[in-house]
Amino acid sequence: MLKICVCVSGGGTNLQAIIDGIADGTITNTQIVGVISNNKNAYALERAAAHSIPAACVSPKDFEDRAQFYDALLEKVKSYQPDLVVLAGFLVNVPEAMIREYKNRIINIHPSLIPSFCGVGYYGLKVHEAVLQRGVKVTGATVHVVDEGMDTGRILFQKAVSVEEGDTPKMLQQRVMEQAEWILLPKAINKIANGELLSE
Ligand code: GRF
Repeated sequence: MLKICVCVSGGGTNLQAIIDGIADGTITNTQIVGVISNNKNAYALERAAAHSIPAACVSPKDFEDRAQFYDALLEKVKSYQPDLVVLAGFLVNVPEAMIREYKNRIINIHPSLIPSFCGVGYYGLKVHEAVLQRGVKVTGATVHVVDEGMDTGRILFQKAVSVEEGDTPKMLQQRVMEQAEWILLPKAINKIANGELLSE
């Protein structure tokens, strides 16, 4: 059984896709042992509670400095004893100590086709605003392994999504989530849970 800890910051639609994937059998051999948010108001926490999944908020606002926040975040992750950490709309730069502790065992979903529209400043709606600003006709989402860089780890899966005439950032974000993110993240977790992808 693959034990996963899911880190969230916002609406939790990617968390919901994982919950639903486990319920409908798209994801097998997997248990969400904990959900951690850096934002106490994250609706993702409501989604965890609705499914009786242990959840916690570790907010930087509750610590004197970033180092203490990072220490508390890592301790909370370790408390769930996960095999895999899944960043699902998590807007915190993972501390190096956590990368070391969970080397090759942290994955992230990014709402573009890396290496396009990623790195510093590219998160949430900003990604889709930049896509529309640049005028590309195809975007998508990427699941990758998290390493010391930002959005630089080994790419596991990507899925293309068309940009349509008249798209607003919100419309494009919704299409990328529906057609790519909510498909790729459960697919990656299921493969890892069944011995693929991260076996080395
Ligand atoms: C969305 O912009 C998604 O593209 C990205 O994080 C944001 C929130 O996702 N991965 P979620 O609804 O909290 O999963």
